[in-house]
Amino acid sequence: MAGHIPKEFIDQLLGRIDIVDVVNKRVPLKKAGREYTACCPFHNEKTPSFTVSPTKQFFHCFGCGAHGSAISFMMEYDHLEYVEAIEALARNLGVEVPREKTMGNQKPRKQLDSSLYGLMEETSKHFSNELNKSQKAIEYIKERDLSPEIIQQYSVGYSTNEWDRLTQLFGKEYGQQKLLACGLQIENDSGRVYDRFRDRLMFPIRDRRGRVIGFGGRVLGDGAPKYLNSPETDIFHKGSELYGLYEARNNTRKLAKFLVVEGYMDVIALAQFGITYAVATMGTATTIEHIGQLYKSGVTQVVFCFDGDRAGEEAAWKALKNALPAVNDDREIRFQFLPEGDDPDTLVRRLGKEGYEAELKKALPFSKFFIRGINEGLGLKAESTLHSIEDSARFATEASRLLDQMPASLLKKSLLQEIQRLGHVTSRPSNTQGFSAEGQQRNFDRPYRKNFGRFAEKTQGAPSQPGDYAVKKTPVRYAITLLLNAPELVSEVGNPEKLLEWDIPGMNLLFKLVETAEENPHIHSAGLMERFRDTEHEKILLKLMKWQPQEADMQVLQQEFQDCFRQIKRQAREKALEKLIHKDQTVGLNSQEQHDLQSLLYDTL
Ligand code: UTP
Ligand code: MN
Repeated sequence: MAGHIPKEFIDQLLGRIDIVDVVNKRVPLKKAGREYTACCPFHNEKTPSFTVSPTKQFFHCFGCGAHGSAISFMMEYDHLEYVEAIEALARNLGVEVPREKTMGNQKPRKQLDSSLYGLMEETSKHFSNELNKSQKAIEYIKERDLSPEIIQQYSVGYSTNEWDRLTQLFGKEYGQQKLLACGLQIENDSGRVYDRFRDRLMFPIRDRRGRVIGFGGRVLGDGAPKYLNSPETDIFHKGSELYGLYEARNNTRKLAKFLVVEGYMDVIALAQFGITYAVATMGTATTIEHIGQLYKSGVTQVVFCFDGDRAGEEAAWKALKNALPAVNDDREIRFQFLPEGDDPDTLVRRLGKEGYEAELKKALPFSKFFIRGINEGLGLKAESTLHSIEDSARFATEASRLLDQMPASLLKKSLLQEIQRLGHVTSRPSNTQGFSAEGQQRNFDRPYRKNFGRFAEKTQGAPSQPGDYAVKKTPVRYAITLLLNAPELVSEVGNPEKLLEWDIPGMNLLFKLVETAEENPHIHSAGLMERFRDTEHEKILLKLMKWQPQEADMQVLQQEFQDCFRQIKRQAREKALEKLIHKDQTVGLNSQEQHDLQSLLYDTL
């Protein structure tokens, strides 16, 4: 079964298409003020009551009540299923519809020849035996200062300088087919079959169950290529395996952390010096599958280690991006950048275990690297600098694109706040920036009443359309309407959790909207609505969405929105007071309640 389409993709899709174009291709539209109109394609009519709003990216028919986003329009007009509609819209943009992956959970592989594992294990033992017999290999091990214990623990071996050693070992009849299948032998164009690894120091690569699935082979001394690796086979996928994972898990009963390095030699040297929790990506970029492997092992701390140069920084950034879906509050991710000319092998030999671990403690936290990386990627200077509006917009766009890939967490929330604090986000109004002194002196009630009055008129009157029903005007509902029309108003909400303390009908829904808008900084009306498709809230939200504030001026909307909150707070206070006074007069109050009553009475609003 194909995975779900990520919500973020649907947001982005709705952000890139224009519903006016989508509709206009099928039903020619006429501009009328801020909107476009036509005769409704969903019912018979002579005068147009079908409208399309470019700001809300929504269509609505006052005649038959049909309404929705571009996706809904495609579903109804082209008779498509939800997913088909998304695919059709994506096709127009020339983009692929992504499907959500489940972490570390690969597709079932085809039936494996289990004896390939047996053959690999036999080969590994053979390489180990050969190591003890080769003076040349023993010399090299000494030169690299590798201890006999560590050689044994990681089953390091040696492949002799022969073209057909493995054929000799396994026999042509039995072995050749399998030796080719697991990449130990190669067949050239003229049909000659020969051993892949010759005269090399051999590192067996094990899967998490300890089965040998591949090898890395290093030349003894200088020579090219420095390392040869097993090719991709039925049992070996370099991009999802980590060298040393099995050994690390085997070394420590309850593994709490991983250090992710690049090379075989790094893992082995670190282990020799007591850092037994290192694993290597074998020189490839850190993939989502690697990250899955790490967290499947139940660790909570991961330090990624990279060279201190430009290439190292780029590799680290790739790793960060791949780790985004896995980041949560229980997991700590750090990035270590090595001094120039060092790798973990050389560094641990110089610093020892303690010294090296002290360095690890100093590694860059995820949040720091996140912000630094965006700045650097965009060619921006230090994080404290206030950028031009253009730079701020680019920063905010990139930051929210990345944050979108993180599941909800406190860390994510703090990052969002940090990004706003840095003053990067000027593209949407916020409490500190969008509110001029002049604006504050204006009469809040004037525009509020103006719009709110219309709102009441529209929603309270007798049902005007089939299936319509009266919606009682309340400040909570008006706040929802405003937020649906302009999701960026969410920046006016200081502390969303506070909302839940106010015991007022509709508060839960308002909170959900606030939360969604907050987590998706660039979401627009139609995107926000899509998040509630097929939920219990869809109906009321559509109803509230249809109403449109008369004033589109952002400052006016901000004031109205804040006014709603003032009213809601007042309402909540009155309700709480009423409750306490009633209790006081009936069963009496405990000391906490008395205290609450006092503060409610003297609370200045
Ligand atoms: P390095 O070049 O950093 O090697 O490559 P190293 O691990 O420090 O090894 P020594 O100390 O020189 O012996 C890091 C990793 O990249 C992969 C290997 O997995 C290696 O461990 N690599 C490197 C290759 O696959 N092929 C190569 O030719 C080089
Ligand atoms: Mn090295």
